[in-house]
Amino acid sequence: MTFLVLPILKKLFLSANTRIVYDNRAMRDAEIDPIPRKVLVTGGAGYIGSTICSALQDSGHVPVVLDSLVNGRESFARSHPFYRGDIADPGVLSRIFEDHPDINFAIHCAALAVVPDSVSRPYDYYKNNVTGSAELFRMLADFGCENIVFSSSASVYDNVQGFMVTEDSPTRPQSPYARSKLMTEMMLEDMAAGYGLKAISLRYFNPIGADPRMRSGQVQREATQIVNILVAVANGERPIFNVTGTDWPTRDGTGIRDYIHVWDLAQAHVKAVERIDDVFPDGPGFVIINLGTGSGVTVREIVSAFENVHGSPIPQEDAPPRPGDVAGAYANADKAAELLGWQTTMTLEDGIRDALAWAESLSFS
Ligand SMILES: NC(=O)c1ccc[n+]([C@@H]2O[C@H](COP(=O)([O-])OP(=O)(O)OC[C@H]3O[C@@H](n4cnc5c(N)ncnc54)[C@H](O)[C@@H]3O)[C@@H](O)[C@H]2O)c1
Repeated sequence: MTFLVLPILKKLFLSANTRIVYDNRAMRDAEIDPIPRKVLVTGGAGYIGSTICSALQDSGHVPVVLDSLVNGRESFARSHPFYRGDIADPGVLSRIFEDHPDINFAIHCAALAVVPDSVSRPYDYYKNNVTGSAELFRMLADFGCENIVFSSSASVYDNVQGFMVTEDSPTRPQSPYARSKLMTEMMLEDMAAGYGLKAISLRYFNPIGADPRMRSGQVQREATQIVNILVAVANGERPIFNVTGTDWPTRDGTGIRDYIHVWDLAQAHVKAVERIDDVFPDGPGFVIINLGTGSGVTVREIVSAFENVHGSPIPQEDAPPRPGDVAGAYANADKAAELLGWQTTMTLEDGIRDALAWAESLSFS
């Protein structure tokens, strides 16, 4: 029965470009393949956006990439329709929707995303991330793209006792970058209400690793992320790893974070694409969902895990915290499990292994 009905549903969807009203819950229970969707991915030539595109493609969906290449790599978008341009440019958005009128889902990853950089260039961050997103959301609504997922960040949270944050934990972003994320979330909530959109803001914790098939990975050489620094020390590009802050109220005094494999992160977006109607059974709305593993890892623990995977000791020394450092946080990821049917499947060691493999593949490219 299923194999007779599904192709007819798919055909209806693709040819008439209409939104099919179907019972997602029944589909989930019956484990029927989801209907392929065409998804606009802004920032799809960047680290996370490109991994999301690969995950969408592997699940039978069709990503369409919009990226200005201010930071991304064109080669990451090679196997998808690619448009080079700014998220706020009406010309490029018109072209995309003329060429692909069947896009009705957008994943908005494009942003400037380096915290210390945002402190010295606040205008650029607010213009690009906030004003740019406002223009993008308005145009998406005008083009009838009613489903939006936004790449937000755990950096919007305040410090909480016990370090575990739920989506209801208080926010207190500490940098122009983090404020740009919280401001964009607030705008998106208002636009979802005003224009009848279904919008999910995914608050990422600390992505690590690379696409396990090595199609893409982190490319910003000055990346401030801990695993990239460890890789650089392991490869002799940096002399020593500084354990910055050893007096935090954590189990070993070092900062605590929630390291999530970027492939797990990407899979959560696939779930969001496939289950958005389940998330909003009563029509348009806005929801925030944490994406993390649900467990905290201290700096000493990740250094030790790295040494085990790499197979040699990392030269390290204790240092005072950097300005603006915080003890850290990890996610309560119950809402992602409940609403998206998603949980992480990869380990910290998988993330470290894939980061090392990616760095090695870069040295050959
Ligand atoms: N990497 C992290 O640790 C992390 C953590 C939390 C949230 N996020 C968020 O995830 C998203 C992706 O981050 P990433 O690490 O992949 O960064 P990235 O720099 O690798 O990717 C961002 C991409 O967006 C593009 N871009 C930037 N501004 C643009 C614009 N105005 N128009 C078109 N394209 C533009 C860049 O060229 C780049 O390819 C960002 O929104 C970031 O804030 C990242």
